[in-house]
Amino acid sequence: MSGLVTLITGGATGLGLACAKHFSRLGARVIICDLPSSKGSDIVKQWSSIVSSPLNSELDESDDPLTSLLNERKDDKNNVKIPLSNNLSTDQNIQLEPPTFLSADVTNEEQIQAMFNQIKQQYERLDVLLNCVGIGVAIRTYNINKRSMHSFDEFKKLLNVNVSGTFNAIRWACHLMADNKPNSQGQRGVIINTASIAAYEGQIGQVAYAASKGALVSMTLPLARDLSNMGIRVCAIAPGVFYTPMLAALPVRVRLLLGNMVPFPKRLGQPDDFARLAHMIVENPYLNGEVIRLDGALRMPP
Ligand SMILES: NC(=O)c1ccc[n+]([C@@H]2O[C@H](COP(=O)([O-])OP(=O)(O)OC[C@H]3O[C@@H](n4cnc5c(N)ncnc54)[C@H](O)[C@@H]3O)[C@@H](O)[C@H]2O)c1
Repeated sequence: MSGLVTLITGGATGLGLACAKHFSRLGARVIICDLPSSKGSDIVKQWSSIVSSPLNSELDESDDPLTSLLNERKDDKNNVKIPLSNNLSTDQNIQLEPPTFLSADVTNEEQIQAMFNQIKQQYERLDVLLNCVGIGVAIRTYNINKRSMHSFDEFKKLLNVNVSGTFNAIRWACHLMADNKPNSQGQRGVIINTASIAAYEGQIGQVAYAASKGALVSMTLPLARDLSNMGIRVCAIAPGVFYTPMLAALPVRVRLLLGNMVPFPKRLGQPDDFARLAHMIVENPYLNGEVIRLDGALRMPP
């Protein structure tokens, strides 16, 4: 990873931020793309403390009632103690290049073009694109009690951000990667998209989200084929249920239930579980055209 120029869309929080920290600790040069309303600017200012804190510290696990609750359930013999973050390093004096925050909406053609032009100017290359950008809605296709149908605008917005926005970033990343000198194996770059297990087991209310993530799953192979002549690998990660700020907003009881649904390990995914898989995809030159589930064998019910 060391020295690789890495762009993370949706990188100001959650899974994307965990990857920014993980990659940065490995010596990568990180660029975070997120909305102007995100915490991107604050993250850059506080980078030295962020990057030297435990990988999952966006959410303080020691204060996480879910973790405490599960760990305290001594009566349950099958209960597995939830490990805290897998710190790559506990060195508090890490001096690493702070990321660059570039605010842009991935669905906006002009903003994304300007962002990639700036990357070209500032870094002269791009080696890795990790798309973590994504939004979700939970609406039934039709509610018979209220005689109300799924908002068409919400459906289109979700597909626009999750699918079109991801694709917009990919096509511009290819434009920069095309100028990279291939490495000894002929590789110019790596692209990783973030799907979801909802692509396979979409639940009630997830029709739009599942459609968008299913599209990302289906795009993986044709993208890998399209870009094979350039030496660009494309993979996707389909996460299960991860403990990110989005999940932290749910009542503890619900998070406890979700964690207990996972066959093993019996817990929610931690953002650094995701970051370590993204790192592995970048490092393994034979991984291409594949979608990898990362879910502790969780299979969602309806
Ligand atoms: N957290 C989970 O359990 C989980 C499970 C499966 C899949 N995923 C997927 O993983 C990805 C990251 O999830 P997360 O939990 O970290 O979510 P998150 O909401 O914490 O992060 C998503 C980021 O995308 C940014 N974003 C949204 N719209 C954007 C746009 N138009 N342009 C630029 N940035 C935009 C947001 O500002 C935010 O920072 C998403 O694609 C999500 O669907 C998450």
